[in-house]
Amino acid sequence: MLQIDILTLFPDMFRGFLGESIINRATKKGIAQIGIHQLREYSALPRGQVDDYPYGGGAGMVLMAEPLVNAIESLSKQGNYDEVIYLTPDGHQFDQPMANALSLKARILLICGRYKGIDQRVRDGWVTREVSIGPYVISGGELAAAVLADGLIRLLPGALGDETSALTDSFQDGMMDAPQYTRPAEFRGQAVPPVLLGGDHARIAEWRHQQSLSKSADDAPG
Ligand code: 6GU
Repeated sequence: MLQIDILTLFPDMFRGFLGESIINRATKKGIAQIGIHQLREYSALPRGQVDDYPYGGGAGMVLMAEPLVNAIESLSKQGNYDEVIYLTPDGHQFDQPMANALSLKARILLICGRYKGIDQRVRDGWVTREVSIGPYVISGGELAAAVLADGLIRLLPGALGDETSALTDSFQDGMMDAPQYTRPAEFRGQAVPPVLLGGDHARIAEWRHQQSLSKSADDAPG
């Protein structure tokens, strides 16, 4: 059972995604549980203020330490977190080995930043890991948190319909998947490779292996 808590100023960003994805199935099966928590509810200030101007000046607002640490401490009463992860473009880039390692944990807290980020003292004192989803900037940690949650939960035994499919993913062994085809056998002049229609499983496996090798050489992950 993997518990993922997400701390965010925009809980609604997660609703549709959680309801539609494999996460929904995993949650119903009791394999995973996701909690969405509004950071504003942990503010001790009037009007639920959670951000303030940066010391030293500059554009943008910084999320204050107090509501973040209040939230971390309050949510930790349900059980200590194995990881408190801050989603940030300057974090370690999320990849399959990281997903595999994190999927083995029991309790993970994801902190979604906005604006100019969060007070450095939270990063220094409470955050155990800083994660980016790629070399580009998006406008907040919410989409990144959704990517992480999906990438972890789909690895849990029983989360996918076909129990073996997470293991046969491209990337899982550093290899790309072979091309896949379904009916019809010819579509607008393009035929399915004849080997796939023949039913010779050894030849099909060998063809797929060769395709996978050449695709991996073209654009290998990492
Ligand atoms: Cl985690 N956050 C933001 N704002 N941008 C990103 C990212 C995270 N990872 C890549 N770009």
